[in-house]
Amino acid sequence: MTLILTAPQEKYLESFRRRDNELLNEMELFAKEKKIPILSWDAAEFLEQIIKIHKPKRVLEIGTAIAYSSIRMAYAAGKKSVVHTIEKSSDNIKLAREYINRSGCENKIEIFEGDAFEVMPRLKNKYDFIFLDADKEDYKRLLDYSLILLKKGGIIFVDNLLWHGYAAVKKVPPNYRASAKNIKEFNLFFMSQTNLHTTILPIGDGIGLGIKK
Ligand SMILES: C[S@@+](CC[C@H](N)C(=O)[O-])C[C@H]1O[C@@H](n2cnc3c(N)ncnc32)[C@H](O)[C@@H]1O
Repeated sequence: MTLILTAPQEKYLESFRRRDNELLNEMELFAKEKKIPILSWDAAEFLEQIIKIHKPKRVLEIGTAIAYSSIRMAYAAGKKSVVHTIEKSSDNIKLAREYINRSGCENKIEIFEGDAFEVMPRLKNKYDFIFLDADKEDYKRLLDYSLILLKKGGIIFVDNLLWHGYAAVKKVPPNYRASAKNIKEFNLFFMSQTNLHTTILPIGDGIGLGIKK
């Protein structure tokens, strides 16, 4: 059981889970085994639905890891859409490339190698949709960078805003304390943005959704 959803609801929702995409199943297992954090299944479902509703032509992701969410976004986006994804870990980039090649989305997904703080200022064209999923202590600055690149009416989607539930409680285990503090500060910052319509939803590990005014 997580601190966000109770066990019976989690089990009930799990019963509707589709397992028809072998590659995604494999990636979920691999990430679990190697302890590589990827978007939870329910948050990834929500992400896909938002992409299908919003129909972004240009998507930017900050934090590729093994490209699980990049591939899911590419599957959900239209044929002519592109997914640009930024990753600084060379180990993850290697894995991401292999999975992207196997996904059939290699023409839709482009990996930008390097630190987002160096890559983002070099990006010339704006985006319709930005998914922020990098190191939590960098979220505030990365939100500022993202807002420069987000078109008016564009959507920003941010993962981990409940931080395993610890953003909402006082008693936090020592290994979660620093990130929980960062996330709490970020949430105040995110919810007070005057140029965004923002909300935080209890999906997955907590999803921040902002629409640029
Ligand atoms: C939570 S994982 C991303 C998971 C991925 N979005 C998914 O759901 O499948 C975060 C990734 O962001 C990368 N990262 C963190 N900070 C970054 C930065 N400043 N620039 C580029 N990559 C970064 C990490 O190396 C890690 O692979």
